Amino acid sequence: MKVAVVGATGMVGEVMLKVLAERNFPITELLLVASERSVGKKMTYKNKEYTVIGLADAVTAKPEIAIFSAGGDTSTEWAPKFAEVGTTVIDNSSAWRMDPTKKLVVPEINADQLTKEDKIIANPNCSTIQLVMVLAPLHKKYKMKRVVISTYQSVSGTGVKAVQQLENEIAGIQGEMAYPYPIGRNALPHCDVFLENGYTKEEMKLAREPQKIFDDRTFSITATAVRIPTAGGHSESVNVQFENDFDLTEVRKLLSETAGVIVQDNPDTNTYPMPIYAHDKDDVFVGRIRRDETQRNTLNMWIVADNLRKGAATNAVQIGEYLVAHNLV
Ligand SMILES: NC(=O)c1ccc[n+]([C@@H]2O[C@H](COP(=O)([O-])OP(=O)(O)OC[C@H]3O[C@@H](n4cnc5c(N)ncnc54)[C@H](OP(=O)(O)O)[C@@H]3O)[C@@H](O)[C@H]2O)c1
Repeated sequence: MKVAVVGATGMVGEVMLKVLAERNFPITELLLVASERSVGKKMTYKNKEYTVIGLADAVTAKPEIAIFSAGGDTSTEWAPKFAEVGTTVIDNSSAWRMDPTKKLVVPEINADQLTKEDKIIANPNCSTIQLVMVLAPLHKKYKMKRVVISTYQSVSGTGVKAVQQLENEIAGIQGEMAYPYPIGRNALPHCDVFLENGYTKEEMKLAREPQKIFDDRTFSITATAVRIPTAGGHSESVNVQFENDFDLTEVRKLLSETAGVIVQDNPDTNTYPMPIYAHDKDDVFVGRIRRDETQRNTLNMWIVADNLRKGAATNAVQIGEYLVAHNLV
């Protein structure tokens, strides 16, 4: 399989290469692609040195799969060019997610929708992926009506510039700002850009993407997305109201039997999910599972995952694995 990693020099790109190597993705030829700034730069994959190339050269090489993590503008312009030469694009940006002609895939939930004709496949937003991984089995069993979510998102979710801003602040260095304010010792109720309705784009991704993934518009989601000074790992406080009542023991059992979900929930031993535990792991962690005592059929939970892993690279590689296993590329 000839595989292109577009955005190989970025935060997601770096983890993508790690995940591809760990999972032994069947690569015969690897193309590392980034902006003109990085062309010629040397990088290593499985102890072999590669030279970063530009997008035009990568299209000419006609890879079977191109995994994009290079921002929405790059995907909008270049994904169709790859698709035209027969490449299947798995895209991490928000460019194609809500396009009705493109699939939005979390393999554990809806990979069975994929066909050979899908030449541009969208990877959901990082905070959406960890949310739907936990909601999927619960929705199936108890039918969701409404979800209220507040996120606590790490700076790695913004990219290398934001990680650098936090490191500069800790070291007391004046440098380039990724955010409009300091992020150290702070919390910014501002992830991605503000929209006309007063919500941010990140909040609307959380509201809309799950409906598309579940192919179900009978439930609603409202979100507040907050950036906090953790280096990696997103956390979410999630309140879900169901049509049907549930039993907490059954909820815990259902979640612990869900592939890719780990229950960490024991107040007696201070056991609950945290970004430092989720770091570098492919699973989604859930805890603080308890009944909302103010409303019928309603559950509170705390969900944590490594945003660069299941929130981005791992999910994209799993889509690639599904395509290979089902002869769809
Ligand atoms: N961080 C997350 O948790 C996360 C999660 C899910 C999805 N995503 C998405 O993944 C993408 C990358 O995010 P990131 O956090 O890795 O950002 P990042 O660290 O800023 O990296 C951006 C990457 O894109 C490349 N790039 C930028 N402009 C380009 C252009 N015009 N042509 C070709 N390559 C270009 C950069 O190459 P140079 O090094 O040459 O500039 C770099 O490799 C974004 O679309 C983001 O929304 C991120």
